[in-house]
Amino acid sequence: MSEYHVAMLVGSTRQGSLNQRLARAIEKLAPQSLKFNWVQMDDMPFYNADLEEDRPAAVKRFVKEIQAADAICIVTPEYNRSIPAVLKNAIDWGSKPPEDNVWNNKPIAMAGTSPGAAGTALAQSHLRQILPILGSHILPGEVYITFKSPDLIDENGTVNDDSVQGFIAGLPERFAEFIDTFSKR
Ligand SMILES: Cc1cc2nc3c(=O)[nH]c(=O)nc-3n(C[C@H](O)[C@H](O)[C@H](O)COP(=O)(O)O)c2cc1C
Repeated sequence: MSEYHVAMLVGSTRQGSLNQRLARAIEKLAPQSLKFNWVQMDDMPFYNADLEEDRPAAVKRFVKEIQAADAICIVTPEYNRSIPAVLKNAIDWGSKPPEDNVWNNKPIAMAGTSPGAAGTALAQSHLRQILPILGSHILPGEVYITFKSPDLIDENGTVNDDSVQGFIAGLPERFAEFIDTFSKR
């Protein structure tokens, strides 16, 4: 299988973030063919069309990194039954102007974790509403993890539960095949 570059977008930047741990686990369990680049989102201002004439440097950098990626992996918490504002803002910047929409034709995988039982299901459902409108191809299947014990996944992305590890590993494995299929179309 060819090598593919995957932009990793994590919807939480706080220290000790559970979603950062999950993102590290996905990266660790991924096949060799996937190379991850964590892309920063929290240095961009809120979207404002007045800034379009001279886009801020952080926005230009973000757009370039997403354009350079073969695919995108979004790992995000759920905030009040939706996605965090930092992620929505990044999606909005990347979607404009429409002729340069960076999400168009990109294979996208998503996952998330929460201490709560519904574990990001609704946030991901919102992403599945937003991204196809922008032309993205979403990996079928659902990966939400209830972070049921404090050491379920450690800071290095090591998963301390065999069945959860197997479940997480399935995501990058399926994603590698999915990206490969799209690259050959
Ligand atoms: C503003 C806010 C809203 C939240 N809303 C939800 C929610 O709707 N569903 C949920 O499962 N957890 C919710 N939580 C709890 C988060 O899942 C929990 O704080 C999680 O650890 C955040 O992800 P992180 O550890 O990667 O930062 C919310 C947390 C915050 C700060």
